[in-house]
Amino acid sequence: MMTSGRPFLQIPGPTNVPDRILRAMDRPVIDHRGPEFAALTKQILPLLGPVFGTRGGPDGGAPILFPGSGTGAWEAALVNVLAPGDRILAFNYGHFSAQFAQTARNLGYEVDEVPLRWGQAVTQDDLECSLRDGAGEAGARRSTGQTARQPYKAVLVVQNETSTGVLTDVAAVRRALDAAGSDALLIVDAVSALASTPFRMDEWRVDVALAGSQKGLMLPPGVALLCAGPRARQVAEQCPTPRHYWDWRPILRDNAAGFFPYTPATLLLFGLREALVMLVEEEGLDAVFARHERLAGGVRAALAAWERWGLTNLCEDPDRCSPVLTAVKMPDGIDSDVVIRHARERFGLSLGVGLGRIKGVVLRIGHLGALNELEVIGTLGGVELALRESGVPLDLGSGVAAAQQAFLKS
Ligand SMILES: Cc1ncc(COP(=O)(O)O)c(C=O)c1O
Repeated sequence: MMTSGRPFLQIPGPTNVPDRILRAMDRPVIDHRGPEFAALTKQILPLLGPVFGTRGGPDGGAPILFPGSGTGAWEAALVNVLAPGDRILAFNYGHFSAQFAQTARNLGYEVDEVPLRWGQAVTQDDLECSLRDGAGEAGARRSTGQTARQPYKAVLVVQNETSTGVLTDVAAVRRALDAAGSDALLIVDAVSALASTPFRMDEWRVDVALAGSQKGLMLPPGVALLCAGPRARQVAEQCPTPRHYWDWRPILRDNAAGFFPYTPATLLLFGLREALVMLVEEEGLDAVFARHERLAGGVRAALAAWERWGLTNLCEDPDRCSPVLTAVKMPDGIDSDVVIRHARERFGLSLGVGLGRIKGVVLRIGHLGALNELEVIGTLGGVELALRESGVPLDLGSGVAAAQQAFLKS
């Protein structure tokens, strides 16, 4: 068991929290109904606009914060704009897209879930096909057995599938909706995408975007974030679904004065302000996105070097590989859980496990949040040691050297 030095948290979220953010949160709790708190809210909300890619105002997206996790954000995104029994189109291409669809089913919506391979992205073709076929005939699984064919009220997409390391092109999803003439609401899970890869709420005409604090925003878990577009806000006014905690209307109303209808995650919001200053005002979002691409390139170069020992990228299309994490498929006969346990116990390196049906099959290397080249190199060195000591006879340093080369060139 590693007992000294810094533990390496290289799961694809929660991510490392920079000391600056920890210090920003290390303070007495303040009155969330007082003027200091109102000033904090009024600083945070405008800084969230660029992160979601919205100009804000009546025609743009409105950020909404809840104490909660990404799972809560799923529920909030659904219950504010969809009525019980509404028909939804969803795709199953990893653990989180499957869980998002399951959340909708649990809430009483009629979900057509199109199965894709885990490792694929949702493409414009997939979506156009499903919209054309009503998603019934082309292999989709009807969740309720009902035969009524009302038009889809919403399409659910997970931008970055954190279980597979695949990034879906949301612009292409929007093009497919437009091409099919669908007026379904576009609801995008950006939990592990936000602040790590571009998100363009206005340009892609996303109706509801949702995220969590613990990934690209470099905060501890505990804040669920939504951004509601103008159409979604309008639909929410009439939406008959019973809701209370996740009802965004009182939040939008009280936010205008800098307050919340119930107790917000006060200290996390001090951390959020610091994170937004770092990302938006200091490093700059374009530089943040470029850094994620660069670091991902190093990890992919390492994986390419390991391929001769049977390791592969679960992401099938090189153009859709995630800048946030890489899901590394193990060679035959190697259980990824064993490698992950060894990395943690022997080297203090935390890697992501395979989720759902790919448990034991992949390990996930997170390369998001507060991270740099040397940390990636250290991580890859640890992965190589753990693989080698778990029975993969790779050449030590092969992946590390490939990543170094990638960083040298870029
Ligand atoms: C893409 C995606 N959606 C949703 C979730 C669920 O978020 P949480 O675990 O914060 O509830 C996660 C968590 O990792 C995720 O990666």
